[in-house]
Amino acid sequence: MDKLFQIIKESKRVKTVVSLNELSQNRWSPRSFGEEEVEKEKLMSIMEAARWSASAFNEQPWRFIVGFKGDETFNKIVDSMVEFNQNWAKKAPVLILNICKNNFTHNNTVNDLAKYDVGQAVASYCLEAVNQGLSAHQMSGFDAKKANEAFNISEAYNSLSITALGYLGKPDALPEELFKVELQNRMRNQMDNIVFTDELKKTPFTL
Ligand SMILES: Cc1cc2nc3c(=O)[nH]c(=O)nc-3n(C[C@H](O)[C@H](O)[C@H](O)COP(=O)(O)O)c2cc1C
Repeated sequence: MDKLFQIIKESKRVKTVVSLNELSQNRWSPRSFGEEEVEKEKLMSIMEAARWSASAFNEQPWRFIVGFKGDETFNKIVDSMVEFNQNWAKKAPVLILNICKNNFTHNNTVNDLAKYDVGQAVASYCLEAVNQGLSAHQMSGFDAKKANEAFNISEAYNSLSITALGYLGKPDALPEELFKVELQNRMRNQMDNIVFTDELKKTPFTL
């Protein structure tokens, strides 16, 4: 394996003293993707992970439009992105538009948890991507209205986010400013800022 790949993979890998599964340790959001195509079987596994995600009332409000580099769907998804994301995401071999069904099917009332459930499904398929040796990078920097129009998505649905998917590419292929960002350390809040229990005495209980 290329030395730069090894260095970047190791530097992005979660370092923790507690036990944590391999997929969560190795998941991160790169902006540099390789030229290799994503095998259809791998993509199906990734979508299967989404399909088996949990959802309120088992509504399964997620829908996915998948574009492959060079096809019309891919180009429409790129067109909907903000310029910053276009700069790197147009090089990914696969782009997925993550869509939400707004109302419950059983009674047509607003499903307040639809976005939550789509987010869970996307999180689940991003981990399966890691399991398949791939990388995924989610984006909210796009024009949802433009995407809805480009794909004739009715008002019953809404575009929520885009995911770039592919094999990790060499970071030095990125434009300089993005290359620098790619090498930055990953930052997280401390555990006692996000988890509250009786035992964590120093933790404020007011949020
Ligand atoms: C809902 C969502 C929207 C995001 N939008 C963008 C985006 O528009 N552009 C981008 O470059 N990264 C985007 N990201 C990636 C985040 O910046 C990234 O997940 C965060 O910095 C943590 O890094 P990690 O995923 O490598 O742990 C988004 C991530 C999520 C989950």
